[in-house]
Amino acid sequence: MTQQTGDCNRINIAIDGPAGAGKSTVARLVAGQLGYIYIDTGAMYRAVTLSAQRLAIAADQEEALTLLLEKLDIALIRGAEGQSVLVNSEDVTTDIRSLEVTREVSYYAASPSVRQVLAGLQREMAARKGVVMDGRDIGTHVLPDAEVKVFLTASAKERAQRRFKELDHADISLEELEAEIAKRDSLDAKREIAPLIQADDAYVLDSSGMTIDEVVDDIIRICRTKLAEAK
Ligand code: DC
Repeated sequence: MTQQTGDCNRINIAIDGPAGAGKSTVARLVAGQLGYIYIDTGAMYRAVTLSAQRLAIAADQEEALTLLLEKLDIALIRGAEGQSVLVNSEDVTTDIRSLEVTREVSYYAASPSVRQVLAGLQREMAARKGVVMDGRDIGTHVLPDAEVKVFLTASAKERAQRRFKELDHADISLEELEAEIAKRDSLDAKREIAPLIQADDAYVLDSSGMTIDEVVDDIIRICRTKLAEAK
């Protein structure tokens, strides 16, 4: 059996950036090409938010959130149509994408207990290397030693347009979506713990006007260079 821990043929890749920059699509494709595991950390914050909302626990109720976190088993599993998110074995993949969760997730993501528990889980998931993890604080906080760090961004307008196209139910206008994205960016960037900022050693990629394939190719090129150096 191959020993995976500390395998110098595998690296960790952190992809951070604001909402709607295409991180999850790109991270999934990069992981697929490298045969790595994709970890969507935003989905984990969404899963906690959904669970708290169901129990009417507010984002500032630290004690109640701490107790809740002790009881939550969050699992990301690879399904037929991409990644599924399970909370205590319940499939919440669709529910965590609701507008209600999207509107409040940044408040729950600012909770110190939530961040501490989820960052710990994420580090465990990456301990064997070979993961592509996307989020807001992966390169700066969760995996500061990741071999490849990418800060993926795009103009707010383009990000809103992309998200708008993804939503087949038009109960939100493009303008409202743009305002919500801007609000979420601001909350994520201004929070005290592990805010959304670019790591000093991150490769900054502005995907405005780029195709997904071009972005993926760019990241794969960086990864291959790192992998060659690691040999
Ligand atoms: O990537 P996403 O839109 O699914 O993320 C949902 C929210 O979770 C986002 O508004 C900020 C938060 N988040 C975070 O604070 N840290 C991460 N590593 C990932 C997401």
